[in-house]
Amino acid sequence: MYQQLLQTLQSSFHDLFHNGEGRIFFAPGRINLIGEHTDYNGGHVFPCAITFGTYAVAKQREDNLVRLYSMNFEDKGIIEFSLDELEYNKKHDWANYPKGMLKFMKEAGFSIATGVDVLYYGNIPNGAGLSSSASIELVTGVMLEKLFKLTIDRIELVKIGKKVENEFIGVNSGIMDQFAIGMGKEGNGILLDCQTLAYEYAPIELDNKKIIIMNTNKRRELADSKYNERRDECEQALTELQSVVNIQSLGELSEEEFEVNKHVIASPVVQKRAKHAVYENQRTIKALQELKLGDIAAFGLLVNQSHISLRDDYEVTGIELDTLVEAAWEQPGVTGARMTGAGFGGCAIAIVDTDQVDSFIKSVGDTYKDKIGYDATFYVASIGNGAQEII
Ligand code: GLA
Repeated sequence: MYQQLLQTLQSSFHDLFHNGEGRIFFAPGRINLIGEHTDYNGGHVFPCAITFGTYAVAKQREDNLVRLYSMNFEDKGIIEFSLDELEYNKKHDWANYPKGMLKFMKEAGFSIATGVDVLYYGNIPNGAGLSSSASIELVTGVMLEKLFKLTIDRIELVKIGKKVENEFIGVNSGIMDQFAIGMGKEGNGILLDCQTLAYEYAPIELDNKKIIIMNTNKRRELADSKYNERRDECEQALTELQSVVNIQSLGELSEEEFEVNKHVIASPVVQKRAKHAVYENQRTIKALQELKLGDIAAFGLLVNQSHISLRDDYEVTGIELDTLVEAAWEQPGVTGARMTGAGFGGCAIAIVDTDQVDSFIKSVGDTYKDKIGYDATFYVASIGNGAQEII
């Protein structure tokens, strides 16, 4: 299957570009186990890379043209530009992600001497909130690193990916997605302190359980979501709290410190947003401790509390995600379930006993269809490695 996919990609590359054999690269998507909307608040996140992702077949050219093609957007055809004109262009659509990587890697001083031909293919469900955009960024970054024999620290590449998202695409996202995708490790979650970028791998050993990804099939687009509004609300809370406590981010507060000082936040809504950021960060740290103790049940409870907080205090879930997660909580053999990623649609995850997975999918799927009117999609997640060349 896998070999066949690689062969298909190679032959499509050949048919499109007539430029011989390319080298093949892969970057995963990600799920976040816990620690949502904490990255831009200087808190902790606990994501992992999955085995769905983006493939790129690539080869240098002799001139300075960049020619990009995506099998996911065939109607857009080959998108072509010169290495000397790396400006955002709305018409270039998805190709702005690789273009932004080219631009910011060059600006960071990495020598990209010639143009490239690249064929992309992604099997991350589009718009599912599993970070297909960070996946394109990182697969492009690793491809340029290898093709042009650059020496780039992986975390620097991760930061360039984030910069593309923030400054080229215009989405004010945090570092979690690029970090998980750049640094992922098979079988492991990554506990990341987003303030210091200190991180730790943690084996995800769930005994006889699987992580199920539940896709609402309600597309979410960061750019037109309330994502930036939540960021502003947290900024507001931080500014008000800084009048009484000496902190640089909400992630520095314990629950107790927050409770003692929260009265300085004038708006009750803003207070709820900050409460989520503070409590979710502490839950994330606790979740790793429970996992290390092998207490999967306690881990699951924290996962559930995370969803409740995102639903009631941060208000980023919506009826589709709530329907899936609340139905999941009712099923036998479920240790925990929550939305994952930015919210407002996209995906949720559930930890489910292996022998209950089929009935879980049937039952949650039926409830969702009845209430929402269209189908959800379910996948069993495998935790894979970060961005790399496939040799
Ligand atoms: C999106 C962003 C991340 C993070 C999550 C919410 O995935 O890209 O930086 O903020 O939302 O946790």
